[in-house]
Amino acid sequence: MSVLDQHGIPVQRMRDAMLRQPTAAALAAAAAVLALAVVCGANPWTAAALTAAAFAGARVALRTAAAERIVAGHRASSLTDGRHGTDLSWHSIIDALPDAAVALSGTGRVLRSSRAARDLFTALRNGQTLDLATRNPDLLGAVEQALATRTAATVQTLERVPVERRLSATLSPLQSGTADIESPALLLVFRDISQEERLAQMRADFIANASHELRTPLTSLRGFIETLQGQARDDPEARNKFLDIMSTQAGRMTRLLDDLLSLSRLEMRAHVAPQGEVEINALVREVVDLLQPIAREVGVAMTFAAEPAECVVRGDRDELVQVFQNLVQNAIKYGGRDGHVDVMVTRTSGTGRARDRVIIEVRDDGPGIAEAHLPRLTERFYRVDVAASRDKGGTGLGLAIVKHVLNRHGGQLRITSTLGAGSTFAVVLDLKG
Ligand SMILES: Nc1ncnc2c1ncn2[C@@H]1O[C@H](COP(=O)(O)OP(=O)(O)OP(=O)(O)O)[C@@H](O)[C@H]1O
Ligand SMILES: [Mg+2]
Repeated sequence: MSVLDQHGIPVQRMRDAMLRQPTAAALAAAAAVLALAVVCGANPWTAAALTAAAFAGARVALRTAAAERIVAGHRASSLTDGRHGTDLSWHSIIDALPDAAVALSGTGRVLRSSRAARDLFTALRNGQTLDLATRNPDLLGAVEQALATRTAATVQTLERVPVERRLSATLSPLQSGTADIESPALLLVFRDISQEERLAQMRADFIANASHELRTPLTSLRGFIETLQGQARDDPEARNKFLDIMSTQAGRMTRLLDDLLSLSRLEMRAHVAPQGEVEINALVREVVDLLQPIAREVGVAMTFAAEPAECVVRGDRDELVQVFQNLVQNAIKYGGRDGHVDVMVTRTSGTGRARDRVIIEVRDDGPGIAEAHLPRLTERFYRVDVAASRDKGGTGLGLAIVKHVLNRHGGQLRITSTLGAGSTFAVVLDLKG
């Protein structure tokens, strides 16, 4: 392998050039000085010293000139004369590429690969063919075709090892008409499109879910409108009943749209740290007081235990109200009639470099949630029992909003639940330092 200098020139080649070229010219210069010294009558020692100095000086000057010529010539031609097999500057271009790139010779052997390509195909080796690094038939077929026809192509492939990834490979033939097996004939550049595809899938799922959630109340509204226009037109009792249901459905649609807007606003501000200061005891007490009448209506006994010390966090007041409203509402809704809901604020001291924190727990003694559901509860529209949630006016977006707000606040949500014994939703926030 050649060692390259800072200009990407093989060091050995530079040394050879510097040694060969200046020697002949320096000898000529030294001979001229010797002749001049003899003609001028200098003594033999002086003539010899002058000749040696002339020889050395001329060599140094010529060496410098030769080196400069090589660098200049190299700079001018480094991108084009790679096919002579001596200039390897294209190696440094491949090395510098952040993408996974592989240069193949006309015979399909790997000449050079970027680090990202070697991370992607761990068995990739210089001098070997690509089929030793990947078994993907689409990719190998496209490479063979591109080498044979010298035409560009793009293929999408699924690599399963070391992890499953979808790749988009661009195949670009390089300079044509060379038979040199050391010169690059095909450049492959790979892009990992797994993440893009996952996001596209998430977006499609989200739109499908949102339209489904909206369609249900809308269908019901249209049904009642038709009934009111038809057989129920002159039935005041039925009319009042249907109008009540229609009002509930319209309310559900409004809530759904409000929640969707909340989520989209939160996503837009995801990377902006919240500005305000909030005292958590006071904020949670307010939420509990607000929801106390609703708890009483369904026979739920709700208690609140504040932390005696002040607990100030950096946060957005309205967003944190939304968090605790949803958690307390869930505990009342899903905890079941005549149950208990306990809300507690406690302060913990951080050890080492960790900050002091405040933990807000919302505990119910309802039916609990099976373990399999726990990791999915904060997904949009995820509900353990869809019909039960809809019955209670839920949209399935509450905990997704909670997660987004807590992410923006650098906080955490911890969910623990025991079937038949109840659930605890705990929010952990750093106290203001
Ligand atoms: N305390 C709880 N006990 C049992 N199940 C719960 C509890 N809290 C949440 N869940 C389950 O988690 C699901 C998701 O809750 P989330 O708050 O996201 O939506 P929702 O309450 O159904 O609707 P929304 O909050 O938008 O009104 C609920 O549908 C319910 O199945
Ligand atoms: Mg909820």
